[in-house]
Amino acid sequence: MKKSYNIAILPGDGIGPEIVDAAVKVLTQVSEQTGVTFTYAYGRIGGCAIDEDGTPLPEETLRIAKEADAVLLGAVGGPKWDQNPGHLRPEAGLLGIRKGLGLFANLRPATMHPSLVDASSLKPEVVAGVDLMVVRELTGGIYFGEKKRYTQDGVEVAEDQLIYNEAEIERIIRMSFEIARKRDKRLCSVDKANVLESSRLWRGVAERVAKDYPDVEMTHMLVDACAMQLVRAPKQFDVIVTENMFGDILSDEAAMLTGSIGMLASASLGEGSFGLYEPVHGSAPDIAGQGVANPLATFLSVALLLRHSLSMDQAADAVEQAVWAVLDKGHRTADIAVDRTQAVGTEQMTAYVVEELLKQLTQK
Ligand code: IPM
Ligand code: MG
Repeated sequence: MKKSYNIAILPGDGIGPEIVDAAVKVLTQVSEQTGVTFTYAYGRIGGCAIDEDGTPLPEETLRIAKEADAVLLGAVGGPKWDQNPGHLRPEAGLLGIRKGLGLFANLRPATMHPSLVDASSLKPEVVAGVDLMVVRELTGGIYFGEKKRYTQDGVEVAEDQLIYNEAEIERIIRMSFEIARKRDKRLCSVDKANVLESSRLWRGVAERVAKDYPDVEMTHMLVDACAMQLVRAPKQFDVIVTENMFGDILSDEAAMLTGSIGMLASASLGEGSFGLYEPVHGSAPDIAGQGVANPLATFLSVALLLRHSLSMDQAADAVEQAVWAVLDKGHRTADIAVDRTQAVGTEQMTAYVVEELLKQLTQK
């Protein structure tokens, strides 16, 4: 195993810096117990970069990210920049780095941990045992199509173009089949083929690629039906693959099944082992700076980083086990607490996980 890795750290806005600092403590523990050195290169992205550098994605940040073995990102955005024009919004930084690094696949696993069943807004029998993965296409579709504003016959008009080509669809479908192969071998491709031409292309490509994966069962579902099935009977899903905007929406819905969006990690991948890892929740400006943010989604993102980009599988397992062990002991941040008066803050939660991680890593 390599002994040293370079990790780009992009804290971003809102609770981003707090949860990323907490995640670095987890990485430090991993480093101390495994002897693998991590060097960190910090960069700005989002609102803080707009304020400091006049752009949501400074070139320096993209360079730091490209030179790293992996990128850990907090979150971007906040009310301060909400009135900015599109290219000067924090979100443009996130979209820019995804595109700039060629990260076309966004993996969002939603796994229900038994001790969090009560935190879900759905009935325990519906959500207990949920273990699904949303694979979201991340660098195409309506997010990246041409946008226009103009006036026609005295009426204001806005346009967002939704384009997909075969190659873009094929690579994400292939990756999803590979992922399904390592899970329960069931892939549900979600589209809106009854209305959208891009979805009809999507479905056709999916069917063609499916021939190469006879061991995986593929089904198709319309996006509205999928939104409904996710809350009706989520256990029917193993891997869901879908285009960019549908994936944005369905992954938030899937996240909520598991109790809190504060628990969900994500990996954005391209070809090869490089990846960008971030919690699915946003920058939560309403609680930023209060020390109450749930850092667990970021820790679980660190686990994905260790596993996928650094091939440190044992350390990745240890981080996940440490998170579950701390939850099993009943420790909760406010977002997942049934009794909020018993909730712990970010720092305390981090200390619990780091301590548990020591046990996990020294056992192995
Ligand atoms: C996400 C977020 C982003 C997206 C926003 C912040 C641009 O909602 O990662 O899901 O829509 O992709
Ligand atoms: Mg989203």
